[in-house]
Amino acid sequence: MWSEVKLAIIREYMPAYSKLVTDYNLYHLYIDGFAGYGLHESRTSGAIVPGSPLNALNTLPPFREYHFIDLNPARVEKLRTYAPGRSDVHVHEGDCNEVLLKLLPRARRERYRRALCLLDPYGIDIAWDVVAAAGRMKSVEIFLNFMVMDMNMNVLLHHPEKALPSQVERMNRFWGDESWRQAIYARQTTLFGEDEQVKLSDSNAKIAEAYRTRLTDVAGFRFVPEPLPFLNDQGATIYYLFFASPNETGHNIVVDIFGKYRELQGL
Ligand SMILES: C[S@@+](CC[C@H](N)C(=O)[O-])C[C@H]1O[C@@H](n2cnc3c(N)ncnc32)[C@H](O)[C@@H]1O
Repeated sequence: MWSEVKLAIIREYMPAYSKLVTDYNLYHLYIDGFAGYGLHESRTSGAIVPGSPLNALNTLPPFREYHFIDLNPARVEKLRTYAPGRSDVHVHEGDCNEVLLKLLPRARRERYRRALCLLDPYGIDIAWDVVAAAGRMKSVEIFLNFMVMDMNMNVLLHHPEKALPSQVERMNRFWGDESWRQAIYARQTTLFGEDEQVKLSDSNAKIAEAYRTRLTDVAGFRFVPEPLPFLNDQGATIYYLFFASPNETGHNIVVDIFGKYRELQGL
């Protein structure tokens, strides 16, 4: 159900964004980094609803260019069937971390261009370099799915020394360095005089807040509202939806949309 809510939030923002930039005569791109195959199957009802790429294609006023990226060849093939022959729609097969670094320069501010970029991975598979490159453009807005559950299961363990080196490496790539450790672990001395790292309470909120600070202070996004948490039935946060933008109007619209869904979740 929460994936549908996430899709609904982004679907609500797309026409508002598209109208805003079109009114300013700007040329705008939609970029979907982890596009999927265009449709989404509801886990709760089994219903098939349009996924983010189809929502983008249905947006009015239309974007000037669409870029859908997926690693999975079968998904890419399916994506190609939605807009055959259209020169404004581009489907890229590959790792979006590589494709995005080549694509982002198409949205240069100096050329009066803007881009809305959705980064909706299953896990922490988006590299910080890409997020930082988007922030430096000053013309790109992102929605980013911050998979705190993946982090908790694989890296942010109560005994951090038990995390596999390969998982720590994934986290470092996602975060850009190892400073995530300071956000959620404190050093303490055990009764036996040994030094150990202890996970702080409320660690989900702390790691999300630390990432938000990185988005503003390191990546250079001017506006990053408080992210929207998505909870499971037990009340645990599965992920946070982040929005980051150089544009105050876009930010205000997203704050309103997030506020509405925060209320719906009773947060
Ligand atoms: C959560 S789904 C995306 C759902 C989509 N946003 C929607 O609304 O329908 C994640 C997708 O990312 C793709 N993927 C995983 N790693 C990737 C990578 N490094 N680069 C590009 N796509 C990737 C998967 O094949 C999968 O289709």
